[in-house]
Amino acid sequence: MFKVEHDRDITQLTTIKVPARAQYFAILKKRADIYSALEYAKQHGLDIYILGGGSNVVFTKKIKGLVLKNEIKGIEILKKTKSKVIVRASSGENWSRFVSYTIDQGFYGLENLFLIYGTVGAAPVQNIGAYGVELKDVFLSLRAIDLRTGKEKEFALEACQFAYRESVFKHKLKGRFFITDVTFKLDIKPRFKLDYGPIKAKLKERGIKKPNLKQIVDIISEIRNSKLPNPYQMPNAGSFFKNPEVGFSVYKKLLKKYPDMPAFKLEKKVKIPAAWLIEQAGFKGKKYGKVAMYEKQALILTNNGGSAAEVLALVKRVKKKVKFLFGLDLEEEVNII
Ligand code: EPU
Repeated sequence: MFKVEHDRDITQLTTIKVPARAQYFAILKKRADIYSALEYAKQHGLDIYILGGGSNVVFTKKIKGLVLKNEIKGIEILKKTKSKVIVRASSGENWSRFVSYTIDQGFYGLENLFLIYGTVGAAPVQNIGAYGVELKDVFLSLRAIDLRTGKEKEFALEACQFAYRESVFKHKLKGRFFITDVTFKLDIKPRFKLDYGPIKAKLKERGIKKPNLKQIVDIISEIRNSKLPNPYQMPNAGSFFKNPEVGFSVYKKLLKKYPDMPAFKLEKKVKIPAAWLIEQAGFKGKKYGKVAMYEKQALILTNNGGSAAEVLALVKRVKKKVKFLFGLDLEEEVNII
């Protein structure tokens, strides 16, 4: 049943667990609840904030308006041919549970994105990615409700304007739509993406030439678990910053000064790992009170009971030093609200 609570603690609904409160709060269990929430917000003149898995957000102040926790679940196979399958998942579905489902069915395409925290609905907003695969590579379309008009709209690939950790839902349409479900185009036959260095290394180490789905899933799990802290044990929000992209001339200048600097060449730009910049700046494993940059992956900010102010102070410190040393501006990947 749709029920609105007043002044609700939402700390535990985020993976970084910085203390946070919502002025109004409701859990959505079914599609009809979205319309109840729209009606409630309209009646009371409230803004709406949609919360998925809370794995990519830091709340730094009490959230004004109505915070909606999306728990609308469901997975449906829409079409299956000899080579492809079209699967639709509701936006409140847990991402990893959905990926597990597709793997159990023997569908290929999402294996590299296994174990990412968050929900299906949040995945397209920032075009989640890992180990050489991005959501956009398997995305067919999504459906969303316009929060202003209550009307449903379908977005095909182009309309989402996906880019590296970006989509139209983070820019022009920010806060405008409630994504209700996402449809994926997956493969029935293997089509692995195995270019990421550590995947190649593990396959070689194990003497696997023609991997199967289970072997890839095992390898992805192992790589993730060796680098990324489990937020249930050590609160965090995944990569805190994006990897900065620079032009070739900037890259060459930096390389002269730092010949060991890792980099990934793109078509027109070069991506420099933020983790490397942060490590070079001396922050890897360094604690500042209750917050720290993680000892095994410098791009992860961990929070052991700290406040928003402590998180923001560390973010500022990291950005300042990286700017000073490399002349590069780190941009938050996490949403700071
Ligand atoms: N590196 C360091 N120090 C570290 C860690 C890494 O110098 O402490 C350097 C190494 O040279 C390494 C490179 O950084 O080769 C890249 O590191 P890694 O492969 O761990 O990936 P990343 O660029 O730090 C990105 C995504 C991750 C995703 C991995 C794997 C972003 C912002 N992050 O991290 O996504 O899992 O690639 O594909 O693009 C997330 O978005 O929350 C996330 C975890």
